[in-house]
Amino acid sequence: MRLDKWLAEMTGQSRSEIKNKIKKGLVQVNAEVIRRPECKVDTEQDEVQLDGELIAYEPFVYYMLNKPSGVITATTDREQKTVLDLLKGVKGRDISPVGRLDKDTEGLLLLTNDGALAHQLLSPKKHVDKTYLAVIDGVLSADDIEVLEKGMDIGDEKETLPAKVESVQDCTKEQLMQLSIQSEHQLQTVHLTIREGRYHQVKRMFARLGKPVRYLKRERMGALQLDPSLELGQYRTLTEQEIQSLKRLYEKK
Ligand code: URA
Repeated sequence: MRLDKWLAEMTGQSRSEIKNKIKKGLVQVNAEVIRRPECKVDTEQDEVQLDGELIAYEPFVYYMLNKPSGVITATTDREQKTVLDLLKGVKGRDISPVGRLDKDTEGLLLLTNDGALAHQLLSPKKHVDKTYLAVIDGVLSADDIEVLEKGMDIGDEKETLPAKVESVQDCTKEQLMQLSIQSEHQLQTVHLTIREGRYHQVKRMFARLGKPVRYLKRERMGALQLDPSLELGQYRTLTEQEIQSLKRLYEKK
C-alpha cells in the first residue's frame, strides 16, 4: 500500500498532513528516511516510524459508542449530524455502524471497518440478542408479557421471534425528570431482549400493545455490554476480550 495512504489510515491524520511530514523527512521505513509519499510499504513486514514513533499495523478497528439522541446512524449526511461525526481521527478508515438505532434512541452502537464481523452480527440467521431499556407509556399486564415472549404480529409478513421481558418496574419521578419525560399516566421501565433487528422493532412491539415507547436505549448486543462509564456521545475502542467474545458468538452458531 502507498506509504501516505497507509499512514493517514493508521493515524487519522489527513493525506496532505502526512505528505508534508514525509517530505520533511519525518517518516522512516525500516530505519531509512523516505521522502516519497507514493513509496509502497508491506504493511505487515515493514517497520514504519512517524516522528520517531513506531506505527503499528492495525487492520481493523472496533469502537463502542454511547449514542446520544438527535444523531443519525449513518456515515455521512448533508444536513444532520451522524454517529461518524462523533468519532475523531478515523477519517478514511471505512468505518460503519453495525446495525442502526433510531435518531431518538440512545445507547450501545458498535462501529467497525471489519465488514466480515459486521455482516455476521447483522445476519438475520444469527439471531444476535439485543437488550433494550424502554420507558413505556402504560403498565404491562401478564398477557402483554406473554404476547411479547411468544412472538407477535407487528404488521410484517412474519411474527416476531420470542423476546425476553425482564425487570418491569414503575418509573420513579426522579427517572422521569432525568429523562425530561412528562406524563399524565403511569410509565414503566422494561428490559426487552429481541433476537432480530427489524425496522423500529421495539417501538412497534410496544405500540401494538397500546403502550408506546417514550424513551429507548440499547444496553447490550450479543456479549457486548454498554460501558456504564461512557457518557452520551463518548466512545472507546473495544478490548481484545470484547472483540473475541463477539467473534466467538457467531463462530459457534
Ligand atoms: N427498536 C426500535 O424501535 N428502535 C431502535 O432504535 C432500535 C430497536
